Amino acid sequence: MLSNNKKILEHAYYHRYAVGGFNAPNLEIAMAIIEAGAKQKSPVIVESSKSEMHHAGAELLAAIVRRAAEKYNIPISIHLDHGDSYETVREAIEAGYTSVHIDGSGLPFEENMNVTKKVVALAHKHGVSVEGEVGKVLTPKFEGEDSNRSDFFTNPEEAQLFYKETKIDSLAISVGTSHGAYKGETKLDLERISRINHLLGIPLVLHGGSMCPEKQLRQAIFNGVAKVNINTELRLAFTNSIREHLEKNPEEHVPYNFLGPAKEEVKKVVDEKLKLFGSCGKA
Ligand code: 13P
Repeated sequence: MLSNNKKILEHAYYHRYAVGGFNAPNLEIAMAIIEAGAKQKSPVIVESSKSEMHHAGAELLAAIVRRAAEKYNIPISIHLDHGDSYETVREAIEAGYTSVHIDGSGLPFEENMNVTKKVVALAHKHGVSVEGEVGKVLTPKFEGEDSNRSDFFTNPEEAQLFYKETKIDSLAISVGTSHGAYKGETKLDLERISRINHLLGIPLVLHGGSMCPEKQLRQAIFNGVAKVNINTELRLAFTNSIREHLEKNPEEHVPYNFLGPAKEEVKKVVDEKLKLFGSCGKA
């Protein structure tokens, strides 16, 4: 059934589990996420960055997820990940997304608040939920190796003010994870998560969930993280499977012969994450 992040994450937050925000740029990955969720009776969030959304076409990607949500009896949300502007958010909402992330973390704090307020006004008018971001989760490949630098971490008092002013539904925080395949050792600042949780009392979102040690993830979830974003591990499962198939079968030219198995590999990763996040049976 179609849902949005507000409904999905409030349940998760109060029952101390997390829902996966899984990135999908195409039919195969979107359906791997949804089928794994259905098998485990778990809510799922199918999300796409601006580039992923444009790869498939916003309306078509939303249509795939919305149609699947009619078929499967689990809460499913379609969410814009790292919306970079009011215009990108509007495009997603017009295409049928039920939830958006406005990432103003590269802007000065006041400007981040202003654009987030505008997004909340538009989104809430349409019943669409909003994830804001304070502090910055870096991507080592583009922003340098030393991406877990604590000067980018979320300041709890700033986060509290941000929430009071913007009335976002959930908050992405920077507490020691980073995006992508090339990250150093993860060391989550659990005290910071707990302090932000204490001050805000809303679902917190952990970006850069791929390759994060399981024990730390469980502790983060216990301390208020209700959504964990996973992209890189799905990308690796999908592309490694295709690479292997094409290396073994250089003459292959039938797409479903390699897209089918690649989808199954993604499903396995999603299945493991749903178990780790504690969302199985919560649909
Ligand atoms: P990873 O690619 O590190 O899993 O991060 C995904 C993410 O945070 C998407 O917003």
